[in-house]
Amino acid sequence: MGEKVTITYQDKTIDLPVIFGSEGEVAVDITRLRAETGIITLDPGYANTGSCTSSITFMDGEKGILRYRGIPVEELAKHATFKETAYLLINGEPPCQAELNRFSILLNDHSLVHEDMQSFYQNFPRQSHPMGILSGMVNALRFFYPELQTLEEEINITVTRLLAKIRTMAAMSYKISQGHKVVYPRPDLAYCANFLNMMFDSPVRPYVIDEDVVNALRVFWILHADHEQNCSTSAVRLVGSARVNLYASISAGISALWGPLHGGANQAVIEMLRSIESGGYTIDQAVRRAKDRNDSFRLMGFGHRVYKTYDPRAKIMKKMCDKLLAKLNIKDPLLDLAKELEEKALSDDYFVDHHLYPNVDFYSGIVLRAIGIPTNMFTVMFAIGRLPGWIAQWKESADDPNWRIARPRQIYTGPPKTNFVSIDQR
Ligand code: SDX
Repeated sequence: MGEKVTITYQDKTIDLPVIFGSEGEVAVDITRLRAETGIITLDPGYANTGSCTSSITFMDGEKGILRYRGIPVEELAKHATFKETAYLLINGEPPCQAELNRFSILLNDHSLVHEDMQSFYQNFPRQSHPMGILSGMVNALRFFYPELQTLEEEINITVTRLLAKIRTMAAMSYKISQGHKVVYPRPDLAYCANFLNMMFDSPVRPYVIDEDVVNALRVFWILHADHEQNCSTSAVRLVGSARVNLYASISAGISALWGPLHGGANQAVIEMLRSIESGGYTIDQAVRRAKDRNDSFRLMGFGHRVYKTYDPRAKIMKKMCDKLLAKLNIKDPLLDLAKELEEKALSDDYFVDHHLYPNVDFYSGIVLRAIGIPTNMFTVMFAIGRLPGWIAQWKESADDPNWRIARPRQIYTGPPKTNFVSIDQR
């Protein structure tokens, strides 16, 4: 055994191996702990617990580093398409031209959604949240695409279907919620432009593709594409470990992402800024409430379990806000409020001492507003971006020869053995 950790408990002593990641991360492998000592570890929220080894994404929370398959996210945001980034995450390498061409053809060929699915959308209550609709509709894809012959074929075609159809399904839920005619994907439009056209094209006002808007969406989706073992990705891996199909695992990830502490924060940030703008409370009051431990109010878009410095994605998103709004000649008062709130918070010891900096959600909503995305679809936009990462992580666990069902233990704190008393004796 190389380096080890020795644990002694009562009359038992055990040496546990220390393992090292390729970027120097260190872990103690406790696989044998319970069998040889009878004790388990307890780590609510898994803040100190690694669920797997992975070669997909590397984050350094202290240095604000984020890399997909070793490539810094800043370089991908500058030079890659979202399709290339999705291919990189899922297959481990960027595609060559021939691979990218084939990937594009497959995404185009699978971009339609079964016509029968439209009736599902029609029957959701009109005010249904698009994340609940998306989670249900992704699960429903299974009913239209039965199991194929080989697992390999099944996974590859399912991956392509999901990437191709999620845009169409998201735009469809928006159009139907507006009572408008569904717009179909076009073979002549690339991934991001196709989505924008499906969202905003209409017979009375044909959508004009603006390359600056397409570029902003490309960067937005690249920045959201993966983030190692976050809540929703862990949900995808955990549900997938029961050997359920990929659609159901992704549907679980969409549900987890919906939470306001996770992907739902991008919608919550805009609602917070709107409350400030409408006089619901001032920036000073927001900062004061956020610092009050007896107040459940949180500064949405601030803080992160891993980043203890500025989220590198937030830096890019903030610059994107200035650039896109200038190009589109938009003056968004919420951007000014966001910058003022950031300045106020980062000059306050509470936020600095708690390492609370803007995260990916703090400025992303301003970009989505400039693109014209309705607020209740902000987290759907996050889900479309995160889909390649969920798929890559699901595949990595499915390809692991030691893949076993995830089943954490617990420490029981309930009552001792108690006999049942029938109701006439109680
Ligand atoms: C995403 O994990 C990922 O990678 C997620 C994500 C991804 O790409 O998948 O990056 C996407 O989900 C980003 C996070 C979006 N959520 C928000 O912006 C919601 C607001 N943020 C917080 O709720 C919080 O910061 C979390 C949920 C992001 C992180 O929560 P933790 O790690 O469990 O931290 P915590 O709640 O235990 O807080 C630690 C301390 C507490 O103070 P003390 O009790 O120690 O005195 O920091 C305080 C908290 O009160 N704190 C905040 C705060 N976030 C933490 N105080 C005020 N405002 C905040 N936003």
